Amino acid sequence: MTKAIRLQKHGGPEVLELVDIDVPPPAADEVTVRHHAVGLNFIDIYFRTGLYKQPLPHGLGAEAAGVVEAVGRDVTHVKVGDRVAYGQSPLGAYAERHNAKAMHVVKLPKDIDFETAAAMMLKGLTVQYLFRQTYRLQGNETILFHAAAGGVGLIACQWAKALGVKLIGTVSSPEKAALAREHGAWETIDYSREDVAKRVLELTDGKKVPVVYDGVGKSTWEASLDSVQPRGLVVSFGNASGAVEGVNLGVLASKGSLYVTRPTLGHYATSAEKVQAAAAELFDLVAKKKIKLTIDQRFPLAQAGEAQAALAARKTTGATVFTLD
Ligand SMILES: NC(=O)c1ccc[n+]([C@@H]2O[C@H](COP(=O)([O-])OP(=O)(O)OC[C@H]3O[C@@H](n4cnc5c(N)ncnc54)[C@H](OP(=O)(O)O)[C@@H]3O)[C@@H](O)[C@H]2O)c1
Repeated sequence: MTKAIRLQKHGGPEVLELVDIDVPPPAADEVTVRHHAVGLNFIDIYFRTGLYKQPLPHGLGAEAAGVVEAVGRDVTHVKVGDRVAYGQSPLGAYAERHNAKAMHVVKLPKDIDFETAAAMMLKGLTVQYLFRQTYRLQGNETILFHAAAGGVGLIACQWAKALGVKLIGTVSSPEKAALAREHGAWETIDYSREDVAKRVLELTDGKKVPVVYDGVGKSTWEASLDSVQPRGLVVSFGNASGAVEGVNLGVLASKGSLYVTRPTLGHYATSAEKVQAAAAELFDLVAKKKIKLTIDQRFPLAQAGEAQAALAARKTTGATVFTLD
């Protein structure tokens, strides 16, 4: 039997239950991974509340690291005993072991431990596609990145610095501002008390930014549109404050013929080759110490509800992992 988090209905953190499940043998294109650490992500909360819907009952989680326990008959790139990690899977990574699709499973370099891997696969591969594919940063830009002290945010601060990009990061407290700066943010804006678009205008000498990365959603949408240059791009990649709804497209014309995309990792990580290449880029930056994973919270799996409550209440910084050893 395997201990795993399951939910019978959508709702608050209390719907998460630790139960015993059977993990079936892997399908032909799957890998069974015995987890040593599991990553917590905001998307897990969307699935818990039902903002993103999956037929119930279901598990949660899509990011983990551990050791390969079994492989399906078509799997050739990893074998039993390999140290691996993944940043996408069918829901259910909140568990002692889980079947992931082989195309999302990558071998871990020796110098990357399980907790570090569980903290960075989904978040780091997200920054990879945001910065290297959705809007390919060249190194001379000034950009706006919301929630810069979060899990994705602290990786973004460091990746931007490594690229030579000036990242203006929004945060909700002086402590989070200090953390974002320590991780390479060029400037920070406290969006709980400052006018974001006005500050962006000041910081860029009236030029605004060519691209805004917005994982906060509803509460930052207007500020994001007002901070981007004419014909610039707003990358709306998350809903931490609620979903952006009811957009009148005319607003894009009146604010400068803007572009908007609502991307998701799954549409970028579409093949094993693409996942391996993106992970290699991330691992290389980690090996060169350009990106250091900041794990500020650790919880046992049994406290998945508490962990999610802390994330939703903006009480976390950097990454959060569930430890299983
Ligand atoms: N589309 C994709 O492919 C993709 C992939 C990965 C992640 N994401 C998205 O990226 C975002 C960041 O993910 P993460 O897991 O790293 O989370 P996180 O950034 O660690 O946590 C979310 C942060 O958002 C900020 N926030 C602003 N308003 C909030 C509100 N009303 N409620 C809660 N938080 C609020 C908080 O920072 P402050 O206190 O500083 O405001 C909070 O710490 C999420 O929206 C997630 O869904 C998208």
